[in-house]
Formats: sequence, structure tokens, C-alpha cells
Amino acid sequence: MAHEAVFPLFHYNLRNYGFFRYFCNRFSPILRKRTKVDFFKGALQTNMLDNNIIDRLDRIATPFYYYDMDLFRRTVDHVAELAAAHDIKVHYAIKANAEKPLLEYISSKGFGADCVSGNEVLHAHKCGFPAKKIVYAGVGKSDKEIYQALMLGIEAFNCESLQEIYVINEMARAHGKQADISIRINPDIDAHTHKYVTTGLYENKFGISQHEFDKLIDILKNSTNINFIGLHFHIGSQITRVDEVFALECQRVNDIVAYFERQGLSVDNINLGGGLGVDYDDPDENPIADFGTWFRTISDNIRRSPHQSIHVEPGRSLTAQCASLISRVLFVKSGETKNFLIMDAGMNDLIRPALYGAYHKIENLSAAQRPFFPTHQAYDIVGPVCESSDVWGAGRLLPLSVRGDLMAIRSTGAYGQVMASRYNMKDLAPAVFSDRLEDAPLMTDYFNL
Ligand SMILES: Cc1ncc(COP(=O)(O)O)c(C=O)c1O
Repeated sequence: MAHEAVFPLFHYNLRNYGFFRYFCNRFSPILRKRTKVDFFKGALQTNMLDNNIIDRLDRIATPFYYYDMDLFRRTVDHVAELAAAHDIKVHYAIKANAEKPLLEYISSKGFGADCVSGNEVLHAHKCGFPAKKIVYAGVGKSDKEIYQALMLGIEAFNCESLQEIYVINEMARAHGKQADISIRINPDIDAHTHKYVTTGLYENKFGISQHEFDKLIDILKNSTNINFIGLHFHIGSQITRVDEVFALECQRVNDIVAYFERQGLSVDNINLGGGLGVDYDDPDENPIADFGTWFRTISDNIRRSPHQSIHVEPGRSLTAQCASLISRVLFVKSGETKNFLIMDAGMNDLIRPALYGAYHKIENLSAAQRPFFPTHQAYDIVGPVCESSDVWGAGRLLPLSVRGDLMAIRSTGAYGQVMASRYNMKDLAPAVFSDRLEDAPLMTDYFNL
């Protein structure tokens, strides 16, 4: 019993709250008002995660992905407005996040979908994207996947190799179909981003390179069951030098499009891919990515004829900032030289830090609610998975943190939930949507209190 008083169990915590957390949670709003320490709140509080929402999130079983649907809708609406103003068609890259409520909203705005697997194609269609607004890229499409997409009648296969074009043509012929295809070209451009998310260099596996253009043009002209509709490019992800890199991409694209048209092939669709970066350092300062600069750079640099339409495929920039992975401190452990915060979310929930060394801002939400000025301390914040790479951040300065504190790993709405696994047989962290909080599983559901 004595140790429980110091290190309360979560269910004990929830029933009786333990004096420390009870005091903090119950009286902090009053104390904050009475003692006029609200400015601390300003320093610690996030815009997306205000006090009211933190109280509600604290009751939900962790870990989970929390989606701020208001921010998400504002982001999509902003993009829809800009796209209309610049006459640019948007296909959302659903690989970034395929949660149904997000896809339903995006499809309702008239966007198309960019998919990279047969299951993504089928899922996008189920979530409201018309088949004629679905494009399908990917270097390794299986025969089954090609067949399914062909039968659905998608807008275009974005083909990434000569063999793929042969196979699609043969499959279409065998089933009495015509397949619309775009060709993904590798434009050999350095996107100045992480080497694992650079895709447009000759050394990368994506797209068809210049040395195969003669053969390619021959195939496109002589295949009876494919219709060539355009060219597709995607040079990388998390691009932050927006005007410089995308201007360069447009200039390369102009040259390549002109080359294909000189060969007698009409390039009706010019698809520039995705890649717009987001602010992982300060998600509250920049909750919406710089779509304005992106669209303007494209409009200013792309050469377009009346028969041509311009397409883009944002993924990360539409969804990254609208979600946080919410976790709890399980244990605080003092090592020889470091203090560890051991969280209940691990690399199985979000693999980006382990896979790319990606940075995510981490906040202690419970400490942000405490009514006194918190001492700060450096922590190595780690997950529970049995891998040394299961680290959220090393030497992160946080307010003094205790067992049970609610933590937010920010900017996790893209390449987060979609990459989760059940490694170590962990449960998958569910999605919790801000407009459906009542559906979220509560901590108390698990303890039969
Ligand atoms: C072909 C293609 N289009 C679009 C995207 C989306 O990129 P981002 O999430 O950086 O916008 C990707 C991502 O890798 C991609 O491979």
C-alpha cells in the first residue's frame, strides 16, 4: 500500500486520483485564475490541445492518435480554395493517412486520390473517390492489383517501368479494355530532403529515366490497349525549400513535356506529385503548410497549353499537423547519467523516429495544467518496444514529469497510423476524432471499475 501512495497504479489513480494528480487536475483551473499564473499556460499550452480537451483526453485509454478535425477541415478547405484559384487539380496521396473520416471529407471536396496499392485503390473508392479520380502509382503493381484497378476503370495507372506498360497493355487486351496511363518520369532532381524520402534522382528506383525514352515512345505508340494521357513526377517528401525546389522541378518538367509533344504524343495531364513540407519544430506556429507558396511557384513556373491540366498529390501537408500521438508516462527511470521517461507508445505506433531519425515535438500535457512553475529536466524519452531504436527523443527538456502524465507527440497525422504495426504483439493505437470523443475507449473500460 505504501508504494502505491508514491507510485499509484493507473486504475487506483482513476478511482481515487492520488493526491498529487487529483490536486492538480481538480484545482488547477481555479488556481490559475486566482493566482494569475495564466501566462505559464501560454508558455506551455498548445493551441490544438487546450485545457478542456486535455481533461477529456486524460480519461481515454492510451496510446491513441488524436485528430483535431477542425484544423484538418480548415487545411483541406484552404487547399480547395487555392487549387480552384490556380486551376490545379488535387489528388490526395492516401498513403499518408487513410482514416475513413479524413478520406470522406477530402473526397467530398472534389479532390482525387493518389494510391500506391490495390487495397488503397479499393479503399479510396469506398470512401467516396470516384474511380475516374483515382490514379495509381507504385513500382511494383501485382497482376491482381492491376486487374482490380482495370476493372474499376480508374483515371490512370502511373507507370514506373517499361515492363509494367507491357503487362497493363496485355491485361487490358485480354479483358477487352482500354487502360489510361501516365508515365512516371524520373527527372533527376535533388529535393534537398532526407535520403529515404528523396525519389527523383537517377539512383532512386522510381519512374523511367531518360536513357529509356526512345524505347518508351515506341511502346506508347504501338500498344493497342493503352491510352497515353500524360506525365507524372514526384521528386521527394518533406521539401522545405519550396520555391527553389519546385521551380526547378517545373523547369525540368517543361523540357520533358516539350520533348514528348515533339515526338507526337499529346501530354494532356501534367502531374507534379506531392512533397510539400510541414513545420515539425513548431506545429502551433505553422499549423497549415505553406500551400500558397507551393501553388504560386507552380503557376509561375509551369508552361501550360490550353489542352493541358496540372495535377498535384499532397499527402503529408494535408494531414500531418492535425494529429498527435497521445501517450502516458509509464515509468520515470534514473540511469547513471540520464533520466528516462518510458512511455506507453512505441515505435510500433509511430516508426518515423526509428526509421528516419525523424524529429517530433513532444509535450507533457499534464505538466502544462499544473498550477505552479514547473522545474525543467532533460529526459531521454523512449518507448516500451524491445529495440534500442525505440527512442522518441534524446535529451529533451521537459517540465518535471511523473508517472501517469499525459504526453503528446505532435505532427503525427501523416505516415503515422498508416505505418503502425503489431510488433511485440502490441495493440494498434486507435484513432480518436475531436468531433467523436464519446466513441473513444476509456481507461476505466480496461479495469472494470
Ligand atoms: C507518387 C507520390 N505522390 C505523392 C506522394 C505524397 O508525398 P507527400 O506526402 O510528401 O506530399 C508520394 C509520397 O511518397 C508519392 O510517392
